[in-house]
Amino acid sequence: MPKTAFPPHEALYPAPCVLVTSHDLTAKKDNIITIAWCGVASSKPPILSISIRPSRLSHSIIKAAGEFVINIPTRDLLRQVDLCGTISGRKTDKFQLCGFHKDPAINVRAPLIKECPVNIECKLKETIPLGSHDMFLGEVQCVHADEGVLKNDKDIDYRKALPLVYNLGEYWDLGGLLGTYGYSLSG
Ligand SMILES: Cc1cc2nc3c(=O)[nH]c(=O)nc-3n(C[C@H](O)[C@H](O)[C@H](O)COP(=O)(O)O)c2cc1C
Repeated sequence: MPKTAFPPHEALYPAPCVLVTSHDLTAKKDNIITIAWCGVASSKPPILSISIRPSRLSHSIIKAAGEFVINIPTRDLLRQVDLCGTISGRKTDKFQLCGFHKDPAINVRAPLIKECPVNIECKLKETIPLGSHDMFLGEVQCVHADEGVLKNDKDIDYRKALPLVYNLGEYWDLGGLLGTYGYSLSG
Protein backbone atom coordinates (compact mmCIF):
# COMPACT_ATOMS: atom_id res chain seq x y z
CA MET A 1 0.00 0.00 0.00
CA PRO A 2 1.43 3.49 -0.81
CA LYS A 3 2.45 5.68 2.12
CA THR A 4 1.61 9.32 2.76
CA ALA A 5 4.48 11.56 3.93
CA PHE A 6 3.44 14.07 6.63
CA PRO A 7 5.39 17.13 7.77
CA PRO A 8 7.38 16.60 10.99
CA HIS A 9 5.25 16.26 14.10
CA GLU A 10 5.42 14.18 17.29
CA ALA A 11 3.41 11.27 15.76
CA LEU A 12 4.42 8.66 18.37
CA TYR A 13 1.07 7.32 19.56
CA PRO A 14 -0.33 5.82 21.68
CA ALA A 15 1.46 7.41 24.62
CA PRO A 16 1.23 6.49 28.31
CA CYS A 17 -1.19 8.63 30.28
CA VAL A 18 -0.07 9.43 33.83
CA LEU A 19 -0.81 11.83 36.67
CA VAL A 20 2.24 13.68 37.96
CA THR A 21 2.07 15.15 41.46
CA SER A 22 4.27 17.92 42.77
CA HIS A 23 4.59 19.96 45.97
CA ASP A 24 4.88 23.74 45.87
CA LEU A 25 7.42 24.57 48.58
CA THR A 26 6.40 28.25 48.75
CA ALA A 27 2.61 27.95 48.64
CA LYS A 28 2.79 24.63 50.56
CA LYS A 29 0.25 23.14 48.15
CA ASP A 30 0.17 19.96 46.13
CA ASN A 31 -0.70 19.86 42.43
CA ILE A 32 -1.53 17.25 39.79
CA ILE A 33 -0.92 17.41 36.03
CA THR A 34 -1.91 14.88 33.37
CA ILE A 35 1.08 13.96 31.21
CA ALA A 36 1.28 11.98 27.99
CA TRP A 37 4.78 13.02 26.92
CA CYS A 38 6.60 10.66 29.25
CA GLY A 39 8.76 7.58 29.00
CA VAL A 40 11.66 5.51 30.21
CA ALA A 41 14.99 7.24 29.58
CA SER A 42 17.34 4.74 31.28
CA SER A 43 17.13 1.45 33.20
CA LYS A 44 20.36 1.63 35.21
CA PRO A 45 20.05 4.00 36.90
CA PRO A 46 16.27 4.04 36.43
CA ILE A 47 15.41 7.42 34.90
CA LEU A 48 12.01 8.51 33.58
CA SER A 49 11.26 11.54 31.44
CA ILE A 50 8.28 13.87 31.52
CA SER A 51 7.98 16.84 29.17
CA ILE A 52 6.09 19.89 30.36
CA ARG A 53 5.30 23.23 28.73
CA PRO A 54 6.80 26.16 30.67
CA SER A 55 3.33 27.74 30.89
CA ARG A 56 2.01 24.98 33.20
CA LEU A 57 1.93 25.56 36.94
CA SER A 58 3.51 22.12 37.43
CA HIS A 59 6.55 23.23 35.40
CA SER A 60 7.51 25.97 37.87
CA ILE A 61 6.73 23.80 40.90
CA ILE A 62 8.84 20.85 39.72
CA LYS A 63 11.67 23.14 38.61
CA ALA A 64 11.82 24.71 42.08
CA ALA A 65 11.20 21.56 44.15
CA GLY A 66 13.39 19.22 42.08
CA GLU A 67 11.09 16.26 42.65
CA PHE A 68 7.84 14.72 41.47
CA VAL A 69 5.79 11.54 41.59
CA ILE A 70 4.47 9.70 38.54
CA ASN A 71 1.14 8.07 39.44
CA ILE A 72 -0.36 5.50 37.09
CA PRO A 73 -4.15 5.86 36.95
CA THR A 74 -6.57 3.00 36.27
CA ARG A 75 -9.21 3.20 33.54
CA ASP A 76 -11.89 4.03 36.17
CA LEU A 77 -10.03 7.27 36.90
CA LEU A 78 -10.47 8.55 33.35
CA ARG A 79 -12.67 11.49 34.35
CA GLN A 80 -10.04 12.65 36.87
CA VAL A 81 -7.30 12.20 34.25
CA ASP A 82 -9.19 14.47 31.88
CA LEU A 83 -9.90 17.04 34.61
CA CYS A 84 -6.25 17.20 35.70
CA GLY A 85 -5.31 17.71 32.05
CA THR A 86 -7.75 20.52 31.33
CA ILE A 87 -7.78 22.62 34.52
CA SER A 88 -4.78 24.40 36.02
CA GLY A 89 -3.86 24.15 39.68
CA ARG A 90 -3.53 27.94 39.64
CA LYS A 91 -7.28 28.18 40.16
CA THR A 92 -8.28 24.83 41.60
CA ASP A 93 -7.14 22.31 44.17
CA LYS A 94 -7.17 19.25 41.90
CA PHE A 95 -6.93 16.79 44.80
CA GLN A 96 -10.20 18.19 46.14
CA LEU A 97 -11.81 18.44 42.70
CA CYS A 98 -10.99 14.82 41.86
CA GLY A 99 -11.73 13.42 45.32
CA PHE A 100 -8.22 12.00 45.48
CA HIS A 101 -6.54 11.07 48.76
CA LYS A 102 -2.85 11.57 49.52
CA ASP A 103 -0.32 9.06 50.78
CA PRO A 104 3.08 10.36 51.89
CA ALA A 105 6.08 9.53 49.72
CA ILE A 106 9.26 8.23 51.34
CA ASN A 107 11.93 10.28 49.56
CA VAL A 108 10.14 13.31 48.13
CA ARG A 109 7.65 15.88 49.39
CA ALA A 110 5.18 15.45 46.52
CA PRO A 111 2.35 13.14 47.63
CA LEU A 112 1.30 9.82 46.12
CA ILE A 113 -2.25 9.59 44.79
CA LYS A 114 -3.78 6.83 46.92
CA GLU A 115 -6.31 5.84 44.23
CA CYS A 116 -3.55 5.14 41.66
CA PRO A 117 -2.23 1.59 42.13
CA VAL A 118 1.35 2.42 41.11
CA ASN A 119 3.33 5.49 42.20
CA ILE A 120 6.92 6.27 41.24
CA GLU A 121 8.93 8.75 43.30
CA CYS A 122 11.46 10.71 41.24
CA LYS A 123 14.20 13.24 41.98
CA LEU A 124 14.98 15.69 39.21
CA LYS A 125 18.36 14.90 37.68
CA GLU A 126 18.36 17.19 34.68
CA THR A 127 16.11 19.57 32.78
CA ILE A 128 16.48 19.82 29.02
CA PRO A 129 14.79 22.73 27.22
CA LEU A 130 13.65 21.39 23.86
CA GLY A 131 11.24 23.93 22.38
CA SER A 132 7.54 23.80 23.20
CA HIS A 133 8.31 21.54 26.19
CA ASP A 134 11.11 21.16 28.72
CA MET A 135 12.07 17.58 29.44
CA PHE A 136 12.48 16.73 33.13
CA LEU A 137 14.59 13.65 33.75
CA GLY A 138 13.76 12.12 37.11
CA GLU A 139 15.75 9.40 38.82
CA VAL A 140 13.47 6.83 40.41
CA GLN A 141 13.81 6.73 44.20
CA CYS A 142 11.08 4.27 45.10
CA VAL A 143 8.16 2.49 43.42
CA HIS A 144 4.93 1.85 45.34
CA ALA A 145 2.34 -0.71 44.23
CA ASP A 146 -0.97 -1.82 45.72
CA GLU A 147 -0.96 -5.45 46.77
CA GLY A 148 -3.93 -5.94 44.44
CA VAL A 149 -1.76 -5.36 41.35
CA LEU A 150 1.04 -7.75 42.28
CA LYS A 151 1.69 -11.19 40.85
CA ASN A 152 3.54 -13.77 42.95
CA ASP A 153 3.69 -11.09 45.66
CA LYS A 154 6.71 -9.49 43.99
CA ASP A 155 6.23 -8.18 40.43
CA ILE A 156 3.77 -5.55 39.34
CA ASP A 157 1.14 -6.99 37.01
CA TYR A 158 0.25 -4.05 34.80
CA ARG A 159 -2.74 -5.94 33.42
CA LYS A 160 -4.26 -5.63 36.88
CA ALA A 161 -3.27 -1.94 37.07
CA LEU A 162 -5.54 -1.26 34.04
CA PRO A 163 -3.47 1.62 32.61
CA LEU A 164 -4.65 4.11 30.02
CA VAL A 165 -3.04 5.39 26.87
CA TYR A 166 -3.52 8.68 25.06
CA ASN A 167 -4.12 8.10 21.38
CA LEU A 168 -4.20 11.32 19.35
CA GLY A 169 -6.95 13.02 21.35
CA GLU A 170 -8.58 9.78 22.53
CA TYR A 171 -8.19 7.70 25.66
CA TRP A 172 -7.81 3.93 25.24
CA ASP A 173 -7.04 1.03 27.52
CA LEU A 174 -4.82 -1.96 26.69
CA GLY A 175 -6.67 -4.25 24.31
CA GLY A 176 -5.20 -7.61 25.30
CA LEU A 177 -2.14 -9.85 25.38
CA LEU A 178 -0.47 -10.39 21.98
CA GLY A 179 2.66 -12.31 22.97
CA THR A 180 5.41 -12.54 25.56
CA TYR A 181 8.97 -11.22 25.47
CA GLY A 182 11.20 -13.31 23.19
CA TYR A 183 8.35 -15.37 21.73
CA SER A 184 9.60 -14.66 18.18
CA LEU A 185 12.79 -16.65 18.83
CA SER A 186 10.96 -19.89 19.54
CA GLY A 187 9.82 -20.45 15.97
C1 LIG B 1 -4.27 13.37 28.08
C2 LIG B 1 -3.49 14.63 28.33
C3 LIG B 1 -2.11 14.62 28.24
C4 LIG B 1 -1.36 15.77 28.49
N1 LIG B 1 -0.01 15.72 28.38
C5 LIG B 1 0.74 16.82 28.64
C6 LIG B 1 2.16 16.77 28.57
O1 LIG B 1 2.75 15.73 28.32
N2 LIG B 1 2.85 17.91 28.84
C7 LIG B 1 2.23 19.09 29.15
O2 LIG B 1 2.90 20.11 29.37
N3 LIG B 1 0.87 19.16 29.23
C8 LIG B 1 0.11 18.06 29.00
N4 LIG B 1 -1.24 18.10 29.08
C9 LIG B 1 -1.90 19.37 29.46
C10 LIG B 1 -1.84 19.61 30.99
O3 LIG B 1 -2.18 18.44 31.70
C11 LIG B 1 -2.84 20.74 31.36
O4 LIG B 1 -2.48 21.93 30.70
C12 LIG B 1 -2.97 20.96 32.86
O5 LIG B 1 -4.16 21.65 33.10
C13 LIG B 1 -1.79 21.75 33.46
O6 LIG B 1 -1.99 21.80 34.85
P1 LIG B 1 -1.15 22.76 35.82
O7 LIG B 1 -1.19 24.16 35.23
O8 LIG B 1 -1.90 22.66 37.12
O9 LIG B 1 0.24 22.24 35.90
C14 LIG B 1 -2.02 16.97 28.84
C15 LIG B 1 -3.42 16.98 28.94
C16 LIG B 1 -4.15 15.82 28.69
C17 LIG B 1 -5.65 15.85 28.83
